[in-house]
Amino acid sequence: MNSRALQGLIGRVAERIATGTSDESDAPGIEDATDFLSPDRFERERRQFFLEMPQVIGFAGEVATPGSFVAREAMGIPILVTRDREGRLHAFLNACGHRGARIAEGQGEAKGGRLVCHFHAWTYTLDGRLASRPRDAAFDAADPRCDLTRLPVSVRSGLIVVGLRPGASQASVDEHLIDIEGPLAGLDLEKAKTLELRRYPVDANWKLVSMLSYESDHFASLHRDTVATMFASNAIVDFFGRHSRWCFALKGTEALRAKDPTTWPAHFPGAVNHQLFPGTVVITTWEIAQLIRTEPGPTPGSCVVHSLGVYFDESKRESLRANYALGLEAFEKEDLPAALESQQGLSARRLPFFIGRSEPIVGFWARQWRDALRD
Ligand code: FES
Ligand SMILES: [Fe+2]
Repeated sequence: MNSRALQGLIGRVAERIATGTSDESDAPGIEDATDFLSPDRFERERRQFFLEMPQVIGFAGEVATPGSFVAREAMGIPILVTRDREGRLHAFLNACGHRGARIAEGQGEAKGGRLVCHFHAWTYTLDGRLASRPRDAAFDAADPRCDLTRLPVSVRSGLIVVGLRPGASQASVDEHLIDIEGPLAGLDLEKAKTLELRRYPVDANWKLVSMLSYESDHFASLHRDTVATMFASNAIVDFFGRHSRWCFALKGTEALRAKDPTTWPAHFPGAVNHQLFPGTVVITTWEIAQLIRTEPGPTPGSCVVHSLGVYFDESKRESLRANYALGLEAFEKEDLPAALESQQGLSARRLPFFIGRSEPIVGFWARQWRDALRD
């Protein structure tokens, strides 16, 4: 982020803390509880927002060096992203051309520029071609279907975007973040390195879990002894096409108003949270970042959350790991159980769902999800 944009954000949030206010929407809203319960709506979201739309699955820095790879999963689809020895980025279904087993797990450097399937040892180059296989003579000559199946992939503002369907257009992947590329640029996301990846199956609709990262009105109660001890809940929000940004800062940030902006910190003194369509969240603080990708599970009342933590400064890795674990603990023990309660409560009541003016991002996304759905 350039220093003018950064000073703009700091100035706005400091003003909000000092005046005890937050950015608000023009009017409160009411949504229907069936948005989180209806099998028909759920099925359309699953197909239109996830299977047919590009997804952000990681940070460019995780697969920055020639010869590196990252294996991920989205919507139960195994994905492999590689950087070949010439430095070109590729994505494939992580499914062997022999009988479909995964040809790589986790992430790392491919020895000799090759990935070997652990099942019967078919071996692939990082651009997806079958390089060799044991008992080659026992098969017909290799045909292109023995190679890995390619997926469209793009790096945008330091994030890896892939299409989950082999036939998806490259343009859809290239353009997915176009409206928010400016705000994401300068966060150094392309330098992020993996801290850890966790997967949580949760008994709540994917939108209820996404909304956990859309407002800070819950800090003082739900996070009274954790997040709220450090951060002020006063928030500033911005919208960029189909995406949004929500920022909140450390308590005491308001004191910066008395100082010359040229002496303000070089990083935002709090969390800058980006919500990317359809509901992926990229949270950045001054030293770590987190990608929370929430996707529908098998039923409207279930989802899978993939939480990926990354860091920037190698020399601080272990202390950053501890900080990250602390933040994740609040998410696991406080946020996720609250989403589960919401799901149970909305199922039982089937009454309207109220969104305050103080929850502008929740309102924005409720409208977006409804408007973006085709019949
Ligand atoms: S499934 Fe990969 S080598 Fe057999
Ligand atoms: Fe929370």
